[in-house]
Amino acid sequence: MASEMAEWIGVHPPLYDPNLSYIENLQKGPFCPPSVLESLPPRPAVPLSERVSFLGHELNSTVGVPAGPLLGSKWTTLAAQLGFDIVTYKTIRSREHPSHPVPNSLFVDTSTLKEKPGGGHEVWVCEDQQQQRLPSVSALTITNSYGMPSMSREYLATDLRKAKEGIGEGQMLIVSVVGTQRSDGVSLGDDYAEAASFAQQHGAMAVELNLSCPNVDKKSGSLYQDPQSVYDLSKRVVAELQPTATPVIVKVGDFPHQQDLQKQVMQSASRAGVRAFCGLNSVPMTVHKTQSGACVPALGADRPTAGVCGELIRPWAVAFIREAARIRREDGGMDGMAVMGVGGITQPEHFRDFLEAGADAALTATAMWWDPLIALKYHRQRAAANGLTGVV
Ligand SMILES: Cc1cc2nc3c(=O)[nH]c(=O)nc-3n(C[C@H](O)[C@H](O)[C@H](O)COP(=O)(O)O)c2cc1C
Repeated sequence: MASEMAEWIGVHPPLYDPNLSYIENLQKGPFCPPSVLESLPPRPAVPLSERVSFLGHELNSTVGVPAGPLLGSKWTTLAAQLGFDIVTYKTIRSREHPSHPVPNSLFVDTSTLKEKPGGGHEVWVCEDQQQQRLPSVSALTITNSYGMPSMSREYLATDLRKAKEGIGEGQMLIVSVVGTQRSDGVSLGDDYAEAASFAQQHGAMAVELNLSCPNVDKKSGSLYQDPQSVYDLSKRVVAELQPTATPVIVKVGDFPHQQDLQKQVMQSASRAGVRAFCGLNSVPMTVHKTQSGACVPALGADRPTAGVCGELIRPWAVAFIREAARIRREDGGMDGMAVMGVGGITQPEHFRDFLEAGADAALTATAMWWDPLIALKYHRQRAAANGLTGVV
C-alpha cells in the first residue's frame, strides 16, 4: 500500500524555497503543485475506536508538525490535508518582528559534526546547496536561523482564524508563542501571557511556550535550562489562560549530559500546571562554510551559530524522549503530563519509533518541507499493518 505513494524528494522542490526570503515564502508558498494534491492517494479511515485522546481532544493520530515550518494559514491547512493531525502555527510574538535575512536554511554536511573543545558542537554546511543534489531525505539536516519573525497583530488575528478553519475533524491547532524583552516596563512573563492570550482568543486549541531562547536575566544558557524561570513563566501563562482551560505546552531544547536538570525542569513545568513537555528544539551549533580555502561563518559574521535540525539530531531527540518518559514514570506526580517528541524524523517509521520510545506525540519539522507526504505514508503503512481499509 505504502509503495503507491509518489516520492517527493528529488521530484518536487521543497514546500519552502530557501533562496527566497521568509516573507516571500509566506506570501507565495507553500510551493505544492496542485496536480500532486489532486492525485494523492486517500488517507485510510480512522475508526472512532482508534482515535487518541491528547490534551483534551480526540485525534485521528498524534503525528504532526511542530512550530516553525508552517508559516501561516495556507501552510497549516495544507499540513492538515496531508494527514498531520497536530498542526502547530509558527511561533508568534505580542508585537511584529522581522526575520533574519537569507540565508536561513542551509544544508548541513552531517559527516563534519565535531565536538568543540570548550563544549558544544560545530558543523560545516554542504558545499553544494542544490536541493537536487541531496541524495535522500535520510541525509536531510539543515540550519534554522530565522530570528522568530512575527507578523502584525492585525494580520495574525485574521490568519489564525483561517488556520483554525483549515483544521479537520480529529485534528488540533497549536499556536507557539515567545516572549519579547520590552523597553516599556512590561515584564517578560506578562509579554508571554499577552501573546498566549492573543493566540487563544484567535483559535489556538493549545498554546506552546517556546522557552528555547536566551535567558537574558541570567546572561547565560536558555530560559528552559533555568527551572525557576520555567516555573515563573509557565505559571503566569497558565493563570492567564485558566478561565478557558486551554492547555499549555512548554517547548525545550537539549539537556546535554544533564538528566537531573531535565527532571527539575519537568517538575517545575508540572507544578506550574503545564500539560505537555515538547522537545527538542533545534540544537545550537557553530556553523561554518569553506570559502576560498578558509573557514568562515556560513550565515554571516553576525550569526556564527544557528539551530541545527533534521536527521543529525535524531539520536539526541530519542534520548530526550526516553528520559522524559522515565522521569514521568518514576516521579509519580506527573501522570497527566504529555511528552511530545521532535527532532530528526525523516522517514515514516520514525514516527512509530518516537511513540514506542515513550512520546505521546511525534512531530517533524524539517522533513515536512522536503517530504510533505511523510505523514500520509505513515498512516498508510500503519493501516496496512493493522489490516484497516476505507478512507477519510
Ligand atoms: C525552518 C524551521 C523553523 C523553525 N522555527 C521554530 C520556531 O519558530 N519556534 C520553535 O519553537 N521551533 C522552531 N523550529 C524548531 C522545530 O520546531 C523543531 O524543534 C526542530 O526543527 C527539530 O525538529 P526536526 O529535526 O524535525 O526539524 C524550527 C525548525 C525549522 C526547520
